[in-house]
Amino acid sequence: METLTIVHSRGWDGTYPPEEAARAVGALEDGSVIVLPDLAFPMSDEERRLLDPRILAKAKNVSYNPASGRLGGTSCTGAEAEVLRLLIARYSESARSLVNGLFPAYRASIRLQRTSLRPAEIAGRASSWRKDDTRLHVDAFPSNPVRGDRIIRVFCNVNPSNRPRVWRLGEPFERVAERFAPGIPRPLPGSAAVLHLLRITKRRRSEYDHIMVGLHDAMKADDAYQSSTGTEPIEFNPGTTWITFSDSVSHAALSGQHQFEQTFSLPVSGMADEGKSPLRILERMKGRVLV
Ligand SMILES: [Fe+2]
Repeated sequence: METLTIVHSRGWDGTYPPEEAARAVGALEDGSVIVLPDLAFPMSDEERRLLDPRILAKAKNVSYNPASGRLGGTSCTGAEAEVLRLLIARYSESARSLVNGLFPAYRASIRLQRTSLRPAEIAGRASSWRKDDTRLHVDAFPSNPVRGDRIIRVFCNVNPSNRPRVWRLGEPFERVAERFAPGIPRPLPGSAAVLHLLRITKRRRSEYDHIMVGLHDAMKADDAYQSSTGTEPIEFNPGTTWITFSDSVSHAALSGQHQFEQTFSLPVSGMADEGKSPLRILERMKGRVLV
């Protein structure tokens, strides 16, 4: 399996020949990062002035909910907030049409989730190991259980000073699961109901979600693992767009500033081969249903 799979862009609204789309889906499900090195996100001068950490309230991202059209995490107000909202909404629409064009097989079941703009520098920002995304991890949402659904993310580096976003990638998901899953204790009986009742989670946390949050934490907490595993740094230059299943692909974001990100969810039944999903891999390992 290739760590990176290069796809030549046909634009945000482009359609891809069936064999190219099938190759992209296969590579994505195998745990590759799909890279479009020539897919820049166009912005006006007025919009580019918003590429500044001053637009942040106190979160690390400005977030946008495409379902409600609402913006969160920003200090901008009035007309400036509206320019920012329309900018992020346009990225969201662009990412949606890119995914529809490149992965037509997912069209029937993929769902658009949150969008974010990350205008702050990554390096030197983390407050705790758990929040430190410069450590290799797989994505898991502690408060927002996915109950087996996949997490697909579309990133675009829009850095105006020509600086790359630098990642490192880790081992295949099977290796991560073999190494860390046996050390994760089963959830306490009733704990999922309590977390939900206390509104710590938005819906009931499945055993799958419990294991995924456990993997995320166990990977980040293990200093020896962090220094012994992973690729050399990979640079995503400005004007590059990249797509990955961030719930199975171990990744660490080492440095960089100014990036858009669109999250999608996909039920495992929507995959070309759901046997490659973390849910099915963990269920095979554990010998039981996890959702
Ligand atoms: Fe992540």
